[in-house]
Amino acid sequence: MRGELIIGNWKLNGNLEFNELFMMNLNRGLKGWTNDNRKIVICPPAIYLHQCNSLLTDAHILLGGQDLSTEVSGAYTGEISGQMLKDFGCRYVLVGHSERRLHHFESNQVVAQKTLAAIQAGLTPVVCIGETQAQQSEGQTVEVLKEQLSDIFQVLSHEDCLKIVIAYEPIWAIGTGITATPEQVQSTHAKIREEISILHPTLSMQVKILYGGSVRVSNARELISLADVDGLLVGGTSLVVEDFLQICQIS
Ligand code: 13P
Repeated sequence: MRGELIIGNWKLNGNLEFNELFMMNLNRGLKGWTNDNRKIVICPPAIYLHQCNSLLTDAHILLGGQDLSTEVSGAYTGEISGQMLKDFGCRYVLVGHSERRLHHFESNQVVAQKTLAAIQAGLTPVVCIGETQAQQSEGQTVEVLKEQLSDIFQVLSHEDCLKIVIAYEPIWAIGTGITATPEQVQSTHAKIREEISILHPTLSMQVKILYGGSVRVSNARELISLADVDGLLVGGTSLVVEDFLQICQIS
């Protein structure tokens, strides 16, 4: 059993008042709900981690960062280390989100270094990969994903490969309302697993692969029921607590 993860990526959203109400409603909505196979992770902006951590009362909910530094400490203005995220209750951290790759020019090599830094800090990195619309139209999806994965697997030991979660987020599906079809998602996830099995034959069935990109209440059930989908990475919909709760509790 790989277990499931539902992750809410708040991106650059939230404020003290919103967060308080959200966490209160999330705790309340999950009260009495049990599913030992599924964990829920909230990734607020780093500055609100302390507040969100102090408001958590439900054991199903965990915290994650949205990014971390490749470095542990030193003269790196504006950066936050994996250990700092851990100090504030994080168990997970997103790495290589397409918005980081685009707006902060993070290369596959930087993403690989961040993945390693997360593992060294004792966090579970959720490594985001995905192709652009143009790459998809050109039939380059698998090739792009392979390239994104290979740099990561190069820096990780066999043992460390088991500590990562992969999130497939086609860039054309992020924030667009266009979700990849269940067939596209299943076949791409199966290919990702196949790719891992070439590098690490014994690990591929154990690594969690999440899907992200315009996940909604209306499509979440079908997506999570796919054989090679082990959870969801939710953006916009994770800010609407009633909707996020419904997705978390899909049976
Ligand atoms: P949306 O769910 O808003 O499309 O965002 C997906 C995403 O980028 C999650 O990391």
